[in-house]
Amino acid sequence: MENFKYTEENEKEFQRILEKYPNSDAMMLPGLWLVQEQIGWVSPAAMIFMADRLGKTPIEVHSFATFYTMFNLEPIGTYHIELCKTLSCMIMGAPELKKFIKDTLGIGPGETSADGKFHFSEVECQGACGGAPMIALNHTYHENLTVEKLENIIKGCK
Ligand code: FES
Repeated sequence: MENFKYTEENEKEFQRILEKYPNSDAMMLPGLWLVQEQIGWVSPAAMIFMADRLGKTPIEVHSFATFYTMFNLEPIGTYHIELCKTLSCMIMGAPELKKFIKDTLGIGPGETSADGKFHFSEVECQGACGGAPMIALNHTYHENLTVEKLENIIKGCK
């Protein structure tokens, strides 16, 4: 297993946050978030790293990471498509978008495309109900989607 460590930039950010939240429990969330921003998922090596940094056991970090669905526990594609499946988006066309993703990229919820480029997740309300249906693509919201708009967004992913 390869060791994990923060990039220089993320190490600085970790230290900056640590000054605000010296409590190791409070640091778990932003600490793991930085990990995921860096490598796209929370690997076992990163859990051991975080446990060392915060004076926790690896199993404590693992329990924390598995509680929050926003943490990826396996490597995901370069582009993470998160489709909202809650009521407003569902009524306004999320099922058609889901079908389009399946038909064009060949992936359903929780799957990564064979080329490793796209990962698809269905998520609960993202607080953008006025723009339903919507996706987040690597955390950037795209609202008032149609199949055509989604097709253009996917084509734009290099
Ligand atoms: S229901 Fe989809 S963003 Fe709220």
